[in-house]
Amino acid sequence: MKKLKVNTGRKYDIIIDRGIIDHCGEYIKSVSSPTRVAVITDSNVHALYSQGVIASLKQSGFIVSEFVFKAGETSKNFRTIEAMYSHLADNNVTRKDMILALGGGVTGDMAGFVAATYLRGIEFIQVPTSLLAQVDSSVGGKTGYDIKQGKNLVGAFWQPSLVLIDPDTLNTLPQRYINDGMAEVIKYGCIKSLGLFRLLKKGMDQLDIENIIFRCVYIKRDIVQNDEKESGERKLLNFGHTIGHALEKIYEYKKLSHGEAVAIGMVMMSRASEAEGVSSKGTAAKIAELCRTYNLPTYDEASLRDIAFASQSDKKTSGRDIDIVILNSIGKARVKKISQRDFQHYLETAEEQ
Ligand SMILES: NC(=O)c1ccc[n+]([C@@H]2O[C@H](COP(=O)([O-])OP(=O)(O)OC[C@H]3O[C@@H](n4cnc5c(N)ncnc54)[C@H](O)[C@@H]3O)[C@@H](O)[C@H]2O)c1
Ligand SMILES: [Zn+2]
Repeated sequence: MKKLKVNTGRKYDIIIDRGIIDHCGEYIKSVSSPTRVAVITDSNVHALYSQGVIASLKQSGFIVSEFVFKAGETSKNFRTIEAMYSHLADNNVTRKDMILALGGGVTGDMAGFVAATYLRGIEFIQVPTSLLAQVDSSVGGKTGYDIKQGKNLVGAFWQPSLVLIDPDTLNTLPQRYINDGMAEVIKYGCIKSLGLFRLLKKGMDQLDIENIIFRCVYIKRDIVQNDEKESGERKLLNFGHTIGHALEKIYEYKKLSHGEAVAIGMVMMSRASEAEGVSSKGTAAKIAELCRTYNLPTYDEASLRDIAFASQSDKKTSGRDIDIVILNSIGKARVKKISQRDFQHYLETAEEQ
């Protein structure tokens, strides 16, 4: 069992332990005293894990209700959010009660947003079941949903009261999503930890996944503690994401998964900053090799012009400038402001080598 304390606006613990999912009732009791707990989950996770979670909640004496939505990013919209509000109201969930988000990032983001807004805010806990949610989205308090103009365009910062991570749930996660999450794991190594980066070279079979999750969450915890609302250091978490988001958008979220797009983004960005002489030689090649270890792509044929254009509407841009994240070397990242106009040129330097 591993435990981390997060010292943000709301202070909370992150606990990582195999099998913890079946003891969530006891853990909730130790941090809060709701009468009702509303479990929010998707159809896949419901079939696998709801029973154990609900049994534990009931055993701890809570009145339990459950809202299940159809799994997938296409459900991450206001219609689902609205149905969640109705579920809470119909089940007499009050300000003293609690939401439990059981699932991947889609579930956590929506359940968190509903917790932030229902009755002007109620407590919620995160029980992330995908690798991406365990190492990234369940920590840090970003919540929200998609609108047709773009992903995550509506949201709120709302910290959970507790995060319970059960690495055993990854046993049922499809390989595709494991790879996806590994892109974010590699990202943490790139921006903050050469040690983690080196550890990852062993490959999936040799990894102590509990330890890897701990190291990632440790890094994210430190970053969000220093910069809860993303005005400075938190931007480092966007390494590979400016290009990644652009690629996802170019292919209308069909050809590339988020992790695949981020992997390509990390490699492209490093190639460019290496060509500029900002990153030490060999940085891009090392990242590319590690991505390949986890079956992640490192190249895409989209034109730099299209990528630069698509990045203009990324919400991480401020005015006409983009904050790009570059590595001086593996484990050492910094943010650089660059004008929209120069971004394409910046990427082109790598092509000219
Ligand atoms: N809030 C943040 O800081 C933050 C950060 C990164 C990503 N996100 C968001 O996270 C979302 C992506 O997260 P995701 O990849 O977890 O998506 P997801 O929630 O859709 O989960 C991926 C798939 O895995 C299934 N699944 C989850 N856990 C499982 C398990 N243990 N066994 C079997 N199947 C399981 C889900 O049903 C789904 O089909 C995006 O919407 C993204 O915007 C948020
Ligand atoms: Zn990401």
